[in-house]
Amino acid sequence: MTIKAVPGTRDILPEEIPAWRRIEEAAHRLFARYGYRELRTPVFEETELFARGIGGETDIVAKEMYTFEDRDGSSLTLRPEATAGIVRSVIENHLFQSDPALKVYALGPMFRRERPQKGRYRQFHQVDVEAFGLQSPQVDAEVVELAVGFLEACGIAEYEVVLNSVGDPACRPPYVETLRQALRANLTRLGPDSQRRTETNPLRVLDSKVPEEQELIAALPRILEHLCPACREHFEEVRRQLDLLGIRYRVDHRLVRGLDYYMRTTFEVTSGALGAQNSLLGGGRYDGLVKELGGPDLGGIGFAAGMERIVLAMPAREAERRCDVFLMPLAAAAFDEALRLQRGLRQAGARVLLDPEGRSFKSRMKLADKLGARYVAIRGEEEMKKGVWRVRDRAGSTQDDVAEGRVAQHLEEKLHG
Ligand code: HAM
Repeated sequence: MTIKAVPGTRDILPEEIPAWRRIEEAAHRLFARYGYRELRTPVFEETELFARGIGGETDIVAKEMYTFEDRDGSSLTLRPEATAGIVRSVIENHLFQSDPALKVYALGPMFRRERPQKGRYRQFHQVDVEAFGLQSPQVDAEVVELAVGFLEACGIAEYEVVLNSVGDPACRPPYVETLRQALRANLTRLGPDSQRRTETNPLRVLDSKVPEEQELIAALPRILEHLCPACREHFEEVRRQLDLLGIRYRVDHRLVRGLDYYMRTTFEVTSGALGAQNSLLGGGRYDGLVKELGGPDLGGIGFAAGMERIVLAMPAREAERRCDVFLMPLAAAAFDEALRLQRGLRQAGARVLLDPEGRSFKSRMKLADKLGARYVAIRGEEEMKKGVWRVRDRAGSTQDDVAEGRVAQHLEEKLHG
């Protein structure tokens, strides 16, 4: 029996790596322009961090975490998202003291025990962006601007920005109670999940995709009509600035998100190219979280994008070229020189491969084509006698005989000139 990858995990194969690198490079390049610096936190943390940070009633904490007991009896969890660990690090390392407008980003694997399907994995990767210490709506608009700019830098042109406000500790609790009352009055029209959530977390009912519940949900009280004046003003200013920046969005009062730390602005960006798991990225403001986790009363806002989903939504690209020059020392006596030539060309920056096996000329040419070689340099008995390498240009289907002392320079000029 062969051993297979664990369900919900996947290998990122060499063919896919250029797309992943493109995403990573877009992140490094773009985020720096907005003042963000990279932070790397551990893949596992104390379980309590996520229970307190994300919320014990959320699906993530209640059902999806990879939690294990360490040998000393402590409970550890593979991070299901990046925000809680970043907040822990910001507090522990006092990062906000040296930098009152702290902006950090992180890339890496996350772990959730969800039912695997296209675009949903148990180990997946996020690009995560967090800004601390800034409460102005300008930051909310800028974070949304950064999110769409990032998708565009990855070559994704088709997407939809969905925006909402989930209120704050002044206006959300009374709204949640109003919502709960409305749900309780209609309990028989709800399925078992929504019935349970009516008591544990009524906002999550708004997320329900159950067809029979949609009519009722459409008629429920809406958070945007229950915002306090401060939250309403904040939301209006975020919208005004997005309009000013020319960023299109749709307001959806049902966008509540699956983590408890949000307040005020929440947003998601979806793609029609993805199917059921259509959320490319999601985020929002979480002003109470730093304090909740033992830090100062700092505001925070950010988002995380799923890298697997970005790869799925990205336009296909030409395969990466693996080889600039393929060396074919056909005569046994040409081998030593080929080795030296190979080393010199590589030191000059070229991608060079040499076939050391004694295959036929035809099969070597096939291999050169498969590797996408631009030039093939051949040296058989005849070329040895003439003191040359025969250099074939695969694209132009031309060939030159180049004196052995000049061949390295000739190829370098062709490649760089
Ligand atoms: P989230 O909505 O749970 O938010 O995840 C963000 C993104 O991660 C999703 O939009 C999706 O692209 C990707 N994602 C989530 N679960 C999976 C999965 N099982 N397989 C593949 N991709 C997945 C958060 O994680 C928040 N921490 C975002 C945030 C940062 N809010 C503020 N700061």
